[in-house]
Amino acid sequence: MATGTGLSPVFPLGSRLNERGVLEIGGCDALDLAREFGTPAYVVAEDDLRARARAFVGGARELHPDMHVVFASKAFPCTAVLSLFAAEGLWCDVATGGELYLALGAGFAPERIVMHGNAKSVAELRMALRHRVGLIVIDNFDEIERLAELVAEGALGDREGGQPVLLRVTPDVRGDTHEKISTGQADSKFGFAIEDVQDAVARVGRTAGLALDGLHAHIGSQLLELEPFRRACAQLAGLGDFKVLDVGGGLGVQYLEDQPQPPSVDDYLGVAVQELGSHGGRLLVEPGRALTANAGVTLYTVESVRQNVSRWVAVDGGMSDNLRPMLYGARYEAEVVDRFGGTTECVLAGKHCESGDVIARGVLLDDPRRGDVIVTPATGAYGYAMANNYNGVTRPPVIFCAGGQARVVVRRESFEDLIGRDQVPRSRPGGD
Ligand code: LLP
Repeated sequence: MATGTGLSPVFPLGSRLNERGVLEIGGCDALDLAREFGTPAYVVAEDDLRARARAFVGGARELHPDMHVVFASKAFPCTAVLSLFAAEGLWCDVATGGELYLALGAGFAPERIVMHGNAKSVAELRMALRHRVGLIVIDNFDEIERLAELVAEGALGDREGGQPVLLRVTPDVRGDTHEKISTGQADSKFGFAIEDVQDAVARVGRTAGLALDGLHAHIGSQLLELEPFRRACAQLAGLGDFKVLDVGGGLGVQYLEDQPQPPSVDDYLGVAVQELGSHGGRLLVEPGRALTANAGVTLYTVESVRQNVSRWVAVDGGMSDNLRPMLYGARYEAEVVDRFGGTTECVLAGKHCESGDVIARGVLLDDPRRGDVIVTPATGAYGYAMANNYNGVTRPPVIFCAGGQARVVVRRESFEDLIGRDQVPRSRPGGD
């Protein structure tokens, strides 16, 4: 999807430079946002989230009578984002008890929740059973045993027909992505090896209270080629007839203007339908990144600029709000929000006590100075999700923008939040 304004296509839909040459997201001036809400801040264009949800849901509806879009909540796990997707008719993928709690609270009907996890605890399984989630995706043999024990102790209550489950399969297909986010290879910490699937099917079949609906596979994230995904779908198709096949998430997004375009939503869904549409049952896809990454940007303020071989531009955030450059070598664009199109090559550094705390290298900025507001686009997935308090840095707020109105949907963390769980007396009341 292009923004259609001459801005890099990685910015949220509807973004533009206004008459004063300042970036607008959802009709809100980025300098005003920084002034009103402070920085760093995650800024999300609400209409962009809706447009992407509709592209997925509409595409699925067109291609298949029973295909559903399951939002992988790990990409942006906050109530506002989840409620918006629930209202748009999506389902929700949760991977832990915490994500299940968020999804239920955000309004997802339990039958539209898919419970994942390679190391689910007894408490998490009990919670999923108690809330009657739509599907539990069983990851390993130990989990079958645990579920059997929970059913035996009555955790199902009076649920008729038992708990519907899928088996997660490791299809032995490697996606074209960073090894840390590749999951489909044979030597993976996720799922049953192909050669164990029939045994697992039989064991679930013998377990009272479990109803085996089908299979699941997820080969990895930020996939820019459809062929590995096609091979994984074909592998699933070859494993037998089931009521439900869930092909996971993984559709990649564009982070940089000069990066190759990822496959379109329709092409991605089309591959799943081509390979699996004839099985006659229900199809599920689980996009996370593709629904949220480009809907969000991060605003920072420049705290210092120095010339130490490179031009180092240090901002008020960094690896506490965006770990992706440090974990995966992910690359981002950056601009001064009111002076786009600079030519000074800079290193955009964070404020944390590590040389590795670099948000982006080789970015071209317009003579950045202390006090400038910087934007990094395409930070709407796995930024908020992986935020942390390293160096006692408080996590940023999430601001939803639409039609020129901005609202805080997650407030900024406070210093009090940092000590909120401490259970020993403090010597001084503190204060800032
Ligand atoms: N389904 C399952 C079972 C998954 O494990 C994942 C992602 C998804 C769906 C959604 O994948 P997506 O559509 O977002 O690619 N922190 C990493 C990404 C880790 C993804 C883990 N699983 C990053 O920042 O790139």
